Amino acid sequence: MNKKVMALIGAVVIIVAALGIWFMGSKERKEFANSANTTENKQEMFKDNNEDSEENIAIIYFSATGTTEKVAGYIKDATGGDLIEIEPQDEYTDADLNYNNNNSRSTKEQNDESARPEIKNNIKTDNYDIIFLGYPIWWGDAPRIILTFLDNHNLDGKTVIPFCTSGGSGISTSVSYFKSHYKKVNFEEGKRLSSSSSEVKKWVNDLNL
Ligand SMILES: Cc1cc2nc3c(=O)[nH]c(=O)nc-3n(C[C@H](O)[C@H](O)[C@H](O)COP(=O)(O)O)c2cc1C
Repeated sequence: MNKKVMALIGAVVIIVAALGIWFMGSKERKEFANSANTTENKQEMFKDNNEDSEENIAIIYFSATGTTEKVAGYIKDATGGDLIEIEPQDEYTDADLNYNNNNSRSTKEQNDESARPEIKNNIKTDNYDIIFLGYPIWWGDAPRIILTFLDNHNLDGKTVIPFCTSGGSGISTSVSYFKSHYKKVNFEEGKRLSSSSSEVKKWVNDLNL
């Protein structure tokens, strides 16, 4: 073999080796890129899930004596949503809540369909897709301050899930009223809840949000 042939063979060997190394390198680079993509995707999915369960849900409630507030807290625990209280401009006193008195504030408000007791705090609803709306039942219905809230917030296209507490009366009268007066809002049937955290947890689970 002369020098020229040996140099040629040497060059071919070097080129083949270089191509091999390059090929292995590119394969590894692809695998790495794929795994990075997968991790990125997973992180993205995780972020989205978090947003769905924590940032798009609000639990907005009115509670005069604390029962509905307790239940609202259980819903927050179950959904991770934001808890927002509807605060009356004028707090309800015991005398205001006296349902044995025809002249008490609550009785007069419930007898007047146009009554809209003022809300003190500025409640922002724009960022939420799902709103749990909670209240006690007063005279078989939602307290008028809930209508103040619904009149003053555009919830069109949002899902609103009513819940209530009461001495025994159900939620359906109030929900029928909402459905017939705020037609573009997607009201669900809602539920009267007791103060049992396990009942609330099960109900929220069954909603499959
Ligand atoms: C003015 C007033 C009217 C009420 N009307 C009813 C009623 O019609 N039916 C009922 O089952 N409970 C009625 N209740 C009881 C409340 O719904 C119940 O105690 C509720 O859990 C109170 O919730 P809160 O503590 O969040 O205000 C009434 C209570 C008040 C103060």
